[in-house]
Amino acid sequence: MGWNPAELPDAHGRTVAITGANAGVGYFTAEQLARAGARVVLACRDPERAESAVAAIRRRVPGARVQAMPLDVADRRSVDAAAESLLALDRLDALVLNAGIVHPPRTRRTDAYGNELVLSTNVLGHFRLTARVLPALERTGDARIVVLGSLASRMGRLRLDDLQLEQSYTGWRAYSGSKIAAQAFGFELDRRLRASGSSVRSIVVHPGYSTSGRTPGIRGVNQPSRLKRFADNLQAAWTQGKDAGAHIPVRAVLDPDVSGGDYLGPALLTKGAPVHAAATRASRSPRLGARLWPLLESAAAEPFPLP
Ligand SMILES: NC(=O)c1ccc[n+]([C@@H]2O[C@H](COP(=O)([O-])OP(=O)(O)OC[C@H]3O[C@@H](n4cnc5c(N)ncnc54)[C@H](OP(=O)(O)O)[C@@H]3O)[C@@H](O)[C@H]2O)c1
Repeated sequence: MGWNPAELPDAHGRTVAITGANAGVGYFTAEQLARAGARVVLACRDPERAESAVAAIRRRVPGARVQAMPLDVADRRSVDAAAESLLALDRLDALVLNAGIVHPPRTRRTDAYGNELVLSTNVLGHFRLTARVLPALERTGDARIVVLGSLASRMGRLRLDDLQLEQSYTGWRAYSGSKIAAQAFGFELDRRLRASGSSVRSIVVHPGYSTSGRTPGIRGVNQPSRLKRFADNLQAAWTQGKDAGAHIPVRAVLDPDVSGGDYLGPALLTKGAPVHAAATRASRSPRLGARLWPLLESAAAEPFPLP
């Protein structure tokens, strides 16, 4: 079925939470869903940046129902507090796991619990959050979890024997490994949801190659320098704005024809309209998913409430 990002189905009555929604793909996902009528919770680590994003959506979408919620996905106490707040909502139709480190540190860093920081931010915090928030999604019925993967999942491998990259850290390995793990988590989650008879769907998406220099300027949200605009525009043939990148998670949230376990991305691989795409065999592998799951449970210190 086709999908037109400019003509979204009415989303009034639905509530969607998005992590890392103060900037980039997360911000535009929030804005587009608010424009469609959804109530949107922007779960962000910096209160000022969160309020700037909420204010920008209210400016650009009259009548938008948006609110900020504190969430640092690399901090367990913050994740647990955000989960409590999300559980207290009347309903939760979708949880978009978007927050991420996209420019990893050159040398290995860890969070307060000793986990490698990129894995912690891009995967472990979301794993713990999802485990805790699942009852709110189950209660709402027909809800969705949308996991942000990446084309980078095609360009690296996941080292299950050195998941925390203690032996072999490079920034690129950390990022590509985290995105393979994120995708494998999203697909394994859907298999476990199906096996348990849940109505919740887990959908994995990637936004191609979306850069801020190709994205509309928005006060407090996206203000690239002239040099950044110039440099990003030189790559225009194969890149798109983060507003276009957001069309993909938005489709995953709203399209009734998207099924659990689907993978969506841009039509031209790095840019274009949101379409069904092919994920790597590794990230789809039930064997890899089954081996990864207990490692995530252990590193996130969170037994996931699905067998
Ligand atoms: N853009 C692309 O081409 C592309 C391609 C493939 C995949 N992706 C994925 O899409 C997602 C968004 O990417 P983007 O390009 O929009 O990145 P971005 O512009 O750098 O935005 C990242 C967002 O994540 C937030 N974040 C980072 N660490 C966090 C933490 N510990 N707790 C809470 N929020 C945190 C950031 O908040 P702060 O403002 O506080 O830092 C920001 O809101 C990522 O998962 C990325 O891997 C993007």
